[in-house]
Amino acid sequence: MFASVFPDPQIFIPGQGEPTLRWGVIGPGWIADMFVGAMRRHTAQRVVAVSSRALDRAEAFAGRHGIDRAYASAEELVGDPGVDVVYIAATQNEHRSLALQAIAAGKHVLVEKPIAMTAADAREVLDAGRAAGVFVMEAMWSRYQPKASVIRQLVADGALGEIRHVTADHGQWFPPEHRLFRADLGGGALFDLGIYPVQLDSMVLGAPDEVTAIGAMTDTGVDAHATVVLAHGAAQSTLWTSMIARTPTRGLIAGSEASLELEGPFHIPADMVLSGNPFMGEQHVWHDPTGVGLMDALCWEATALARYVGEGRHESPLHTHAETASIIATLEEALRQIRDA
Ligand SMILES: NC(=O)c1ccc[n+]([C@@H]2O[C@H](COP(=O)([O-])OP(=O)(O)OC[C@H]3O[C@@H](n4cnc5c(N)ncnc54)[C@H](OP(=O)(O)O)[C@@H]3O)[C@@H](O)[C@H]2O)c1
Repeated sequence: MFASVFPDPQIFIPGQGEPTLRWGVIGPGWIADMFVGAMRRHTAQRVVAVSSRALDRAEAFAGRHGIDRAYASAEELVGDPGVDVVYIAATQNEHRSLALQAIAAGKHVLVEKPIAMTAADAREVLDAGRAAGVFVMEAMWSRYQPKASVIRQLVADGALGEIRHVTADHGQWFPPEHRLFRADLGGGALFDLGIYPVQLDSMVLGAPDEVTAIGAMTDTGVDAHATVVLAHGAAQSTLWTSMIARTPTRGLIAGSEASLELEGPFHIPADMVLSGNPFMGEQHVWHDPTGVGLMDALCWEATALARYVGEGRHESPLHTHAETASIIATLEEALRQIRDA
């Protein structure tokens, strides 16, 4: 069946001819700190500006990361001619409007996930980027990690046979005062955490034919947890997410020839186990060879983006605009069913 070898991963090694872009950051919160730290440690990219709704927060962030310019508004940041690409790390309710603002100013854009809260809004942003001739990408960092390239090749090469099941979970526990409990900030488990299992499923099986979801809403009006079953012809996927329970965040891709277990957390660097007939000892373990772990793996999407911009692309070939909007459509339908139940 398969040899003991995994395909070589595609690794977005910095300094391979990609331009050193000048980045501006909007929304100096938790993920922005992680992303900029990872970029500084592991890429050839330069962050030159940051904006917050409060100048002191922008200045504090700039101080922590050695950034030249701090602004008190997104308008000022997108108007900075020394910024090539804008990273939008604000809360989800702001993604669409900030992305449109950056695109209108002629900037390339990396928008934190989810790119928008509806498929129509996602398409509006992506189409605006295409019309303006700039590069627009959702920051679905898992797609650019070495592990994802190995999964894609195993699936494409038929090493797993016919894929019949995908399962994945992503649950974290958050206190009631967290932004995820706030409907006005675009909170809820599905769009923030459930997007990871759904994008894994989409990478392996494409868009579903049918979406069935159950879950529960919080008294603040957002989804607390959800189980989503997706039909893809003869294949079925079970994906679940929670913001009220910690889950192992594992994935499994099961095919007629072999299964691939993604150890937790499946969306960031962690081992994978390829099993043929485990009763016959046919098991192979894949380790990330780069040594770049945890949140530092955010670096790969930054180098990938710079490479794509250098190539004159307008969308990521590993997460196209059409697929980005389709994933949002799946989440939207799941949330609709849970809300309407
Ligand atoms: N890739 C990942 O692994 C990952 C992990 C966590 C989060 N995320 C995504 O990153 C985004 C930010 O999450 P986070 O955890 O970093 O949140 P956070 O720490 O609360 O930071 C969000 C930032 O958004 C800005 N903001 C702009 N408009 C806002 C508004 N109306 N209300 C509140 N804040 C507003 C705030 O900056 P100012 O107030 O200074 O303007 C704040 O610093 C979310 O879309 C989330 O899904 C991604």
